[in-house]
Amino acid sequence: MIAIYPGSFDPITLGHIDLIERGAKLFTMVVVAVLRNPNKIPLFTVNQRLEQIRLSMQHLPNVDVDSFDGLTVKYAQMRGAQVLLRGLRAISDFEVELQMAHTNKTLSTQIETVFLATSNEYSFLSSSVVREIARFGGSVDHLVPPHVARDIYQCYAQNHPVSNPIKTEVI
Ligand code: PNS
Repeated sequence: MIAIYPGSFDPITLGHIDLIERGAKLFTMVVVAVLRNPNKIPLFTVNQRLEQIRLSMQHLPNVDVDSFDGLTVKYAQMRGAQVLLRGLRAISDFEVELQMAHTNKTLSTQIETVFLATSNEYSFLSSSVVREIARFGGSVDHLVPPHVARDIYQCYAQNHPVSNPIKTEVI
C-alpha cells in the first residue's frame, strides 16, 4: 500500500523524519510530497526542500520524494496511493487535521487519512518553531538534520542580517 505524506516541509524537521521512518515500516512506499504553494512565501524554495528531504531520507529505499500542485487527493490518485499520512502532535492539530481529513474524504472516498501520533520527544516541534529559533539566532542543531541546520544558518546569515545567528547552546 502506498502512502502520501504531504506537507510544506519548510524545512523538514526531526519530527517529520521520525514520522516518515515509522510510516515506511507500515506501508510499501511512503511518498513525501511537498506542496507547491503560491500563497506562501517560504524560507526555502521547493527544490531546496526536495534536496533537504532526499538527503534526510536516503537511508530508506521505500521512501520517494516529490512535489505537487493543487489537491492532495488528486496527486494521491495520480500516484496510485490509497493513504494520506499525517502526524498528530496535540489537540490543537486534531481540529485542523480532522477537518482536512473530512474534506479529503468528500473529494475521494477511496483515499483514507491515517494519523500517527508524533513521538513524545517531538511533540513541540514544527517547521515554524525551527524558523523562529533560527531567526532570533538560536541553535536548531537538535531539531533538524545537520545539512538542514547548515542551510538555515546560511539562509538567515545571507537574507536576514537582523537575525544573523550567533549559535547558542541548547536551552
Ligand atoms: O505541512 P502543512 O503545511 O501542514 O501541510 C498542509 C497540506 C499541504 C497537507 C495541505 O494544505 C494540503 O493538502 N494542501 C493541498 C490542497 C488540498 O488538497 N486541500 C484540500 C484539503 S484541506
